[in-house]
Amino acid sequence: MPDERHPSAPATPFSLLEPPAASQTGLTGEERRRIFLNDAALADNVDVRKNIATFGCDLSLIEFPEWQRTKHVHRLHPYLGKFVPQLVELFLRRFFKSGDTILDPFAGSGTTLVEANALGMNALGIELSPFNCLVIEAKTRRHDLPLLSREVADTFRRVEDFSRQGKGEGLLPLLPKPGSFTTESAYLNAWIAPEALQQILFYRSIIPEYRNQDLLKVILSRTARSCRLVPHYDLARPKKPLKPGEEYYCVKHRRTCEPISDGLKYFRRYSRDTVSRIEEFDRLRDRAPRGLGVAQPPSAVPSIVGGVSTRREDRGMGTSRPQSQPGAAVPHASCTVLQGNARTTPLPEGVLLDGVFTSPPYVGMIDYHEQHRYAYELFPELERRDESEIGPMSLGKSKKAQRAYQADIATVFRNLRPWLKPTAKLFVVANDRHGLYPAIGEMAGLRLVDTFHRPVPMRTERDTATYFESIFWFELQ
Ligand SMILES: C[S@@+](CC[C@H](N)C(=O)[O-])C[C@H]1O[C@@H](n2cnc3c(N)ncnc32)[C@H](O)[C@@H]1O
Repeated sequence: MPDERHPSAPATPFSLLEPPAASQTGLTGEERRRIFLNDAALADNVDVRKNIATFGCDLSLIEFPEWQRTKHVHRLHPYLGKFVPQLVELFLRRFFKSGDTILDPFAGSGTTLVEANALGMNALGIELSPFNCLVIEAKTRRHDLPLLSREVADTFRRVEDFSRQGKGEGLLPLLPKPGSFTTESAYLNAWIAPEALQQILFYRSIIPEYRNQDLLKVILSRTARSCRLVPHYDLARPKKPLKPGEEYYCVKHRRTCEPISDGLKYFRRYSRDTVSRIEEFDRLRDRAPRGLGVAQPPSAVPSIVGGVSTRREDRGMGTSRPQSQPGAAVPHASCTVLQGNARTTPLPEGVLLDGVFTSPPYVGMIDYHEQHRYAYELFPELERRDESEIGPMSLGKSKKAQRAYQADIATVFRNLRPWLKPTAKLFVVANDRHGLYPAIGEMAGLRLVDTFHRPVPMRTERDTATYFESIFWFELQ
């Protein structure tokens, strides 16, 4: 296998990525890939060879340790079912250039939007779940970093004072007393230990005093998630809460553990982590090309430019306008988040899409609202839209559910047609175990140009199997 980093090697999309870091055991990315391909008997696999020829790597992205797969804002908040950002970057580099406009109609946690902006591409996302939209906006809007730092430090200091008072430390007569907060949410009362719940409710009560409310909500939501009365190894899909103080054998820590009772250490950890992730992404965006080609020379000016705007389909808010950074000759790439149903949500007038990069929900796999139940309970102003989810878990995986799913996804792509350039490329990532996508393409009037199959190494403690995920490349017929 050629070494993509050798100076004489031809540039591949992979060679343009930030190089993979060595693992803790000292293995290089290249060595990890070789071991993975040998172990999974994939070295001669036809799809793997095609991926290497097209992208410079097999697309497993095994080269990248966890911290690189969750770099900067990609780990601002946990989200089940997100892209590996390097996968998005490889496709954007291979098929698009800076100044292009890219849409993700199932934006999830915003991976495509973040990666597009990092490459100087304008990004739009449609996403049904209001909490996901809050997270995407918090990641992608421009921040006043000194103010953010001050606000995050201040909220942390206040929750710390509040907790110290509860432990009888210090004399802080102006603060409400722990125990003075109550919530009618049966979920929060059952899933969070009393001490942590008091801290969480106190923190929630002070958020309206600050400007960076979205990021403070992200910190709070992340803390609430970590403080749930669940085993430490089961944060993603816990079935029922433990009792406060209930001991259990922890698979993650290999010892007897108790669920979390005090949230302060999480407030501290996530406060610091949030600020540094936002700072890192802001620096990265400042270095992103503006109006210059990334992988190829430029041939088009940005279709739209501007700051972040969230438009709610139901509330008919306006279109984003060009907005340049002070002192910058060319504006940064824009980012627009539309909260709504991708079957019906219109894109802003004047947008012309060069491409789509997306991973739709699949049939009966993940309940996208329920995975953030704690956030919806904490922020009742965020209205759940479960009834409009495509492929909801509640409908299962039956043939009938599959047919409904095909019709729904085809509707989404048909809805996008007025905004697609004739040359637009649409990439859809799906573990299409029921073989639904070729027919979806036909139903949506799309031509299947090619399909890439990417080996996905399972990384859970109990499973090491490899499966293949498909990336369908569609264009207009
Ligand atoms: C597989 S996830 C996308 C994850 C994303 N690629 C990422 O990296 O974060 C699919 C997303 O589609 C959203 N979704 C489901 N039904 C939708 C609909 N009708 N309109 C818009 N979004 C929808 C879900 O809320 C979920 O966030």
